Amino acid sequence: MNIQNRIDPDKATRDRIARELAYSMPLKDFHPGAPKLFATDTLWPFFERLRAEEPVHYCTNAPIEPYWSITKYNDIMHVDTNHGIFSSDVKHGGIAIRDVPVGYDWPSFIAMDEPNHSRQRKTVTPMFTPEHLDELATLIRGRVCKVLDGLPRNETFDWVDRVSVELTTQMLATLFDFPWDERRKLTRWSDVSTALPKSGIVSSEDERRREMDECAAYFQKLWNERVNSDPRNDLISMMAHSDATRFMDPDTLMGNIILLIVGGNDTTRNTMTGSVLALNENPDQYQKLRDNPALIETMVPEVIRWQTPLAHMRRTALHDAQIGSKTIRKGDRVVMWYVSGNRDDEVIERPNEFIIDRKRPKIHLSFGFGIHRCVGMRLAELQLKIVWEEILKRFENIEVVGEPKRVYSSFVKGYEHLPVRIS
Ligand code: HEM
Repeated sequence: MNIQNRIDPDKATRDRIARELAYSMPLKDFHPGAPKLFATDTLWPFFERLRAEEPVHYCTNAPIEPYWSITKYNDIMHVDTNHGIFSSDVKHGGIAIRDVPVGYDWPSFIAMDEPNHSRQRKTVTPMFTPEHLDELATLIRGRVCKVLDGLPRNETFDWVDRVSVELTTQMLATLFDFPWDERRKLTRWSDVSTALPKSGIVSSEDERRREMDECAAYFQKLWNERVNSDPRNDLISMMAHSDATRFMDPDTLMGNIILLIVGGNDTTRNTMTGSVLALNENPDQYQKLRDNPALIETMVPEVIRWQTPLAHMRRTALHDAQIGSKTIRKGDRVVMWYVSGNRDDEVIERPNEFIIDRKRPKIHLSFGFGIHRCVGMRLAELQLKIVWEEILKRFENIEVVGEPKRVYSSFVKGYEHLPVRIS
């Protein structure tokens, strides 16, 4: 039986209504970046119709500024690799569909253009070299084993909190050499920094401000300690001892810290949860994996495509430009929908199917392309690989026993809760 029908009798109805709406609504009324589409997982028919009928689409009727949607794989590659035309700079509004609110517009290298971007990015790349990842692998495996061995049997628990959040938080604490007992602060700051007003994560703007100020003060203290000590192998120390970042002003320090927290947290966390859900929704694939654990190698990139934990990145046009039949004007917002490009059947065969032994699973767009391509991608793949190796050694089945609660956001595509049971 299809898991979705079992855990959520309304899902089929919801999907049917979304499909009817997507194919009856005039295209000019489309707002594919509406967070509700993502919170209810009803985005798919809207993007399907856009790819087929108007792959470069301009939305003018949203409660946010007008924006272009780029929905086809090759057009997304074109925008992502033309950084001279399509800017990431925070002074133009940043990398998400909504402009960064004033007061939170800290500069960070993901939201910088050249040459500053590359100068600052280089400071943290030693963390992600193959040699360093080999060293980290033993540590990661030990922690994964401990977390998995501590899970309850025959009772329902939240996979997000007990596994995905815990493991990614432990990883972040290691990358920053952050005080271990206080590591959940990192998760909280990551969630607060990306929360939308209606998400329920913070109850007021004041609360958000207070928590972000606490984060800034905490990291400033760690920075002051590390800048005055010998260089060490953590991200704060790497930035504190590099010429490119040593003299960062407090706002840029805060921006880069938030970038690294969010980059390393939401993304891997939501893919860890998404992998359990995807395998439950596709029991034949789960069985294939159990029968042949070596398929973890190709299952990991497939689940990263399937989940696309960052649904989009946004750019701002620095010059007029042509994409397909549409003319983008200087100053326009251009949103690259990775989540849609990953379902483009002109490039990816049978894109709406979750297939763990694809021939070329790594051609997905989930890590972006071009100069901003994810710096932590190998670490993310390593974490997911180890988690699944250890899961398969221990558990015959992780059963999803209720509907996932999805994040209210069209940027972070993920889960707040996923009830599961190990029997
Ligand atoms: C950039 C996705 C894991 C740190 C990005 C971008 C995407 C992305 C889409 C922007 C690419 C572009 O604009 O072209 C993901 C996914 C992950 C993941 C899907 C996991 C499945 C991580 C991890 C870290 C990390 C574990 C490490 C702490 C970063 C940083 C950037 C970035 C620092 C900015 C790179 C730059 O601007 O040069 N990531 N990421 N990410 N990611 Fe990841």
